[in-house]
Amino acid sequence: MLCSVRSPRGLLSFLTIGISSTYALPHNHVKARGDTAGHSVDGVGTFTNYALYTFADNAWPQDGLRASDKEGIRDQNHGAPYNHIFLSSNVFAADGYLQIMVPGGQTPSTAQNNPITAQNSITAGEVSTTDNGILYGSVRTTALFSTVPGTVQGSFFYKSDTQEIDIEYLSDPNSTANTGGQTAIHWTNQPTNGGSSTTSLTTAPANIDSVEHEYRIDWTSQATSFYLDGVLQETYEVNVPSEPGTWLWNNWANGDPSWSVGPPQQDSVMKVSKIEMYYNSTSVASS
Ligand SMILES: *[C@@H]1O[C@H](CO)[C@@H](O)[C@H](O)[C@H]1NC(C)=O
Ligand SMILES: *[C@@H]1O[C@H](CO)[C@@H](O)[C@H](O)[C@H]1NC(C)=O
Repeated sequence: MLCSVRSPRGLLSFLTIGISSTYALPHNHVKARGDTAGHSVDGVGTFTNYALYTFADNAWPQDGLRASDKEGIRDQNHGAPYNHIFLSSNVFAADGYLQIMVPGGQTPSTAQNNPITAQNSITAGEVSTTDNGILYGSVRTTALFSTVPGTVQGSFFYKSDTQEIDIEYLSDPNSTANTGGQTAIHWTNQPTNGGSSTTSLTTAPANIDSVEHEYRIDWTSQATSFYLDGVLQETYEVNVPSEPGTWLWNNWANGDPSWSVGPPQQDSVMKVSKIEMYYNSTSVASS
């Protein structure tokens, strides 16, 4: 997951003016599935399913989302100093946010080939859709990202390392994947054919941890488009996934100096206030 091939090919300047969505969105219901009338997203297409998750009432878990638990990732296979493990105890709702945490001050083992346990690894947090049949969509995540150096926070589509679309914020300005000593948001299609990923980055808003921003991926059979606060950042027509999978949100670290760096010295908490999803699914619709 989130493989280590990264070759940022460009740098776009960040626009500080948030442009609100002008779409006529059907807000008449929440978490409707299998609506044959469809939900039209201007310039993207029509989607059968719509889901809206909010956390103002600190409700967690919620129908349609789940926290990954005891899911270990052997990053050492890709040369990282540490492995990481997703624990559901690092995911909770409080203060009106879904909170996804990497606890600070962890001192995991760097020994190779250890079993991936909470003691041996960097513990991290991850949320996924329970629907693993998502095939095309427009997914908007409104969130605060932690600026505590040393994690990757993001929203992404995942089927496999060759079917993956990522928005990822790298919070350590010294990560060699960031540029000019500034943190950045990376927009990526992972390679569908064993070649190179398609990726670029945008310097992160200075207020990324204090002002909510909307991070959005539009995915069709033709292209992926990445938006920050409704402003188009990139469109890719190569390495576009074509197989159904899952949507995820996570916050993690493995010590890789060329990606996450970390582990963080203080608690790193990604705070999601809203997730809005228009999507098609190959899963049997629940009524
Ligand atoms: C979503 O599925 C509907 C019903 O099959 C189809 O008409 C529509 O074109 C699909 N949307 C996209 C963006 O592929
Ligand atoms: C980044 O590198 C500079 C120069 O070595 C250092 O002063 C700073 O503390 C580093 N920042 C972090 C977050 O490690």
